Amino acid sequence: MTEHDKSSNVVWHHATVTRVRREQMNKHSGAVFWFTGLSGAGKSTLAHDVEEKLHRLDYRTFVLDGDNVRHGLCADLSFTDEDRKENIRRIGQMARLYVEAGIIVLTAFISPFKSDRDNVRKICGSDFHEIYCKCSLAVCESRDVKGLYQRARAGEISDFTGISSPYEEPDAPELEVDTESHLEECSERVFKYIAAAVAL
Ligand SMILES: Nc1ncnc2c1ncn2[C@@H]1O[C@H](COP(=O)(O)OP(=O)(O)OP(=O)(O)O)[C@@H](O)[C@H]1O
Ligand SMILES: [Mg+2]
Repeated sequence: MTEHDKSSNVVWHHATVTRVRREQMNKHSGAVFWFTGLSGAGKSTLAHDVEEKLHRLDYRTFVLDGDNVRHGLCADLSFTDEDRKENIRRIGQMARLYVEAGIIVLTAFISPFKSDRDNVRKICGSDFHEIYCKCSLAVCESRDVKGLYQRARAGEISDFTGISSPYEEPDAPELEVDTESHLEECSERVFKYIAAAVAL
């Protein structure tokens, strides 16, 4: 039971089609590859680029991307610390279900707080791989892919990571990629890491 469990009479129904059977069919294991970094660091770009490489080789994959999730499952949440925490908790639980389904999940969320990422690590155990997209604030801001930094600097967006809300770097990510440039090299490196991690 956790602080979130309000349904104590619910009993887990065990599937006969197990995770192991799904993984054997897929010819790889399920796992979560959690891309974290500042806005504009390249999480979405890398996650989708690597997914393309994996998909072409018949890996079963899915990308959970920040903006898309916030349109639906987490549309009721804002960007306060408390709501960011709940956002990441829901995504962590969802990622775990995907892993049970034998899927390679690539997530692209800023996920600025160490404690939130560590909670997902607890939820997913050894299936969790943290990938730090390391890119300086200056470079992210100069890219300003979505025009959000400009708006945050103008005071139009509150709680903006890197400007008015902190980003806590991972201490010991499973993989760190320098995403200031050389996209293809980064993508190749992440692809190789994932392929090795999910090999049966
Ligand atoms: N090595 C690299 N890895 C990833 N992206 C790179 C790299 N070099 C340059 N880029 C560029 O940086 C930009 C990254 O934008 P992207 O939308 O992927 O960031 P993000 O981390 O998903 O941001 P947000 O949190 O706002 O969604 C893209 O325009 C991409 O082409
Ligand atoms: Mg993104």
